[in-house]
Amino acid sequence: MSVTRPRGTNDFLPEDTVKWQQIEKLLRDLCAEYGFQEIRTPIFEDTELFVRGVGGTTDIVQKEMYTFTDQGDRSLTLRPENTASAARAYLENKMFGLAQPVKLYYMGPMFRYERPQAGRFRQFHQFGIEVFGSSSPLADAEIIAFAWEFYNRLGLKGLSLQINSVGCPACRPNHKEALKDFCRDNLNKFCATCQDRFERNPLRMLDCKSPVCQELLNNSPEIIDHLCPDCTQHFSKVQELLDAAGIPYQINPRLVRGLDYYTKTAFEISLKEIGAQSAVCGGGRYDGLISDLGGQPTPSVGFALGMERIFAALKSQGIDHFCTQNTDAYIAVLDQNEKTLTTAFKLALALRQAGLACEQDLLARSLKAQFKQADRLNAAYTVIVGGEELSEGKAQVRNLANSSQELVPLENICNYLKESGDK
Ligand code: HAM
Repeated sequence: MSVTRPRGTNDFLPEDTVKWQQIEKLLRDLCAEYGFQEIRTPIFEDTELFVRGVGGTTDIVQKEMYTFTDQGDRSLTLRPENTASAARAYLENKMFGLAQPVKLYYMGPMFRYERPQAGRFRQFHQFGIEVFGSSSPLADAEIIAFAWEFYNRLGLKGLSLQINSVGCPACRPNHKEALKDFCRDNLNKFCATCQDRFERNPLRMLDCKSPVCQELLNNSPEIIDHLCPDCTQHFSKVQELLDAAGIPYQINPRLVRGLDYYTKTAFEISLKEIGAQSAVCGGGRYDGLISDLGGQPTPSVGFALGMERIFAALKSQGIDHFCTQNTDAYIAVLDQNEKTLTTAFKLALALRQAGLACEQDLLARSLKAQFKQADRLNAAYTVIVGGEELSEGKAQVRNLANSSQELVPLENICNYLKESGDK
């Protein structure tokens, strides 16, 4: 049997990658407008980074990491997300010494050993932004506005933004205790995962999908009723700023994210129509992460969005305003003479040097088949090299849109195409 790609991974073919590139460009343009600069961190890191950063009790660390021991007996892990790596890089490269805040973005593959299904893959791609060194609610609102603007520019409709505050180490323990007290008497009625989470990470019980557990959690104590004054004020300010920006949102007191580093703001943007895995973006504030990794307390906030889910959303809403790659000129040859082939080869190089997208026949095809290929490529012009014209130092240039044809000296073809084309 032939070898196939691993479960939960995708091949992106040229018809897809041309769209990826345009979406990446849109994201990079937004980063320039919002003042984010790119960081590229390793695809694998010390396992310890994710255990300390993402949290030892999370599903990601407990069940989903691609961890391996290398030949030097080190435990390494393919990154399941990029926030911990960005925080490590901020510390390791002493970016705390730069003017603050430091605003970084990244895009690339992440790896989680999850059960594959629509919208959930084992290798998937994230774009994310992180603001290190600002405790201001303005930073929270700025990144949410960034995400909202991105979806708007894509033309996506029907997105829902949910926000919550998950408190801080000062107020969270009160809520944790209240939640445990609420669940304790009925604990044996909860699913096995919730029973396990009860001791390790009770807040995550709120995220359980089981209808039985959800029912049992009806009227459970809400974190926003237990926030300390600082967290309360921060949360109201974020809401005020979102109101000022005209960004609609719902407060969801059950929104607890699957990573342990969050403090204060947590948010998700979702689109129901793409299926069970409807979160197209998630993030929040993580004021304790840098100190957990050994640095000075550094308030930070960020989000990441899933590229595959963006594509699913675009597809489901029939949005396809992406341009395909252009071919400005197709160089066809009348014969397979060495002189003809070399002239065509050199002409193609010269046109490309002048910035024109150009192709030449590489399969020794008949002239008819070459014309067909030029049509398939949707070329603007075909340049026909060879025969008597070549001995006169000229070639026929055919405009494929209106079928007009002109004999042009070889040395003028470049200018001719540039002047008559769109370029
Ligand atoms: P996350 O919610 O785990 O957060 O992932 C962010 C986004 O990545 C999700 O909303 C989803 O669109 C996409 N995603 C996650 N897992 C998969 C998967 N298995 N297949 C396809 N797409 C997926 C984080 O990763 C945090 N680092 C976000 C963050 C940045 N928080 C602060 N800064």
